[in-house]
Amino acid sequence: MAKLRTTVQLKRHFRYITAFLSSTTILLFLYFQNSAVITTYASYGIASKRAACGCNTCVASRENGTWFSERYNRTIPFLLNSTNSELNEDILKWWKGLQGAADVINYTYVVDILFSLFPDEDHFSDAGPDRCRTCAVVGNSGNLLRSNYGRLIDLHDFVLRINKGPTKGFEKDVGSKTTHRIMYPESAVDLDNSTHLVLFPYKILDMQWLISIFTTKHITETYMSVPSTINADRDKVMILHPEFIKYVNDKWAEGHGGYPSTGFLTLIFALHICDEVNVFGFGATSEGQWHHYFDDSMTSFSNLHGGDFENQTIHFLHQQNKISLHKGWT
Ligand SMILES: *[C@@H]1O[C@H](CO)[C@@H](O)[C@H](O)[C@H]1NC(C)=O
Ligand SMILES: *[C@@H]1O[C@H](CO)[C@@H](O)[C@H](O)[C@H]1NC(C)=O
Ligand SMILES: *[C@@H]1O[C@H](CO)[C@@H](O)[C@H](O)[C@H]1NC(C)=O
Ligand SMILES: *[C@@H]1O[C@H](CO)[C@@H](O)[C@H](O)[C@H]1NC(C)=O
Ligand SMILES: *[C@@H]1O[C@H](CO)[C@@H](O)[C@H](O)[C@H]1NC(C)=O
Ligand SMILES: *[C@@H]1O[C@H](CO)[C@@H](O)[C@H](O)[C@H]1NC(C)=O
Repeated sequence: MAKLRTTVQLKRHFRYITAFLSSTTILLFLYFQNSAVITTYASYGIASKRAACGCNTCVASRENGTWFSERYNRTIPFLLNSTNSELNEDILKWWKGLQGAADVINYTYVVDILFSLFPDEDHFSDAGPDRCRTCAVVGNSGNLLRSNYGRLIDLHDFVLRINKGPTKGFEKDVGSKTTHRIMYPESAVDLDNSTHLVLFPYKILDMQWLISIFTTKHITETYMSVPSTINADRDKVMILHPEFIKYVNDKWAEGHGGYPSTGFLTLIFALHICDEVNVFGFGATSEGQWHHYFDDSMTSFSNLHGGDFENQTIHFLHQQNKISLHKGWT
């Protein structure tokens, strides 16, 4: 009797031990599985942070909500080359409508000539955890005068200037370095041999003009007279992709105005080729004036380009820490 009871007790005891051991196993299993999950998340977190860039804050990081990531398309082609040059019907039609019809001109034919003359490359495909490329986008606003930004601007890896904005005589406020100058035929100036000419083509004729200034020099007029040639290094020429212009119009300007202004396009372009973007010379002076820093003509704040909307978007990018706006002397 006693023996039997003992056996039963032992069996029961054994069952408890088994149950205890298996639940421990499950708990341990869960524990390790969870920590594995946590570890995965942690390294994923670091990996996704590292994936954006090597600066403290990265333009392309997705930390800050949906507003930015709904607009920012990192796979949009931004510079034209022979393999990405094809435009679908929609884009071609929209682009041809910007500055007058040029339907008679064969786009494919023009692109073929472009890349027999200029570098046919995959530009700026080096984004990644180890890159920290800082850029200064320098507009032409009078708010640069007495700003003393020159040294700060020149510290950036890239300094992008727009249209005719000069450095000579304004070094203290605007700096002296220009790695990229954004232009189109009507705004063209001579470049020194360290500067990339970045053509923003608003029409096919702009591409033909680019070919002409390095070859036949026969184009002297678009809707106004334009230089038939300029000093510039042919091996440093870049051409903005027409699809990029439409992308900025649709996603960033949301169709306000006829099409995006050159300043706005340049700023969004910088978001795609740089990891950190500092913006100078945009907006009015502290007295509310809109003149250039170098002459009395007005910077473009017009509703041809949906100026109010562009301005709000730029301020929002600043609030979201995607750019830093430097407003100059106040
Ligand atoms: C980003 O651009 C690429 C290339 O044009 C396009 O295929 C893709 O659909 C775009 N992505 C979004 C989310 O719009
Ligand atoms: C346009 O130019 C390309 C390349 O030169 C040629 O193959 C094509 O036939 C031309 N298309 C038209 C409609 O002229
Ligand atoms: C052209 O640019 C695209 C990115 O927009 C890139 O994938 C492609 O490799 C480039 N082609 C050449 C010939 O460099
Ligand atoms: C670039 O321009 C500078 C100054 O004008 C000149 O000294 C230099 O030799 C030029 N370099 C090339 C490669 O042409
Ligand atoms: C641009 O937007 C900012 C922020 O919304 C505003 O303070 C400023 O007055 C605007 N500038 C113009 C010229 O509308
Ligand atoms: C996100 O945006 C807020 C303001 O809206 C800003 O204070 C913060 O620094 C931003 N964070 C990053 C990582 O950009």
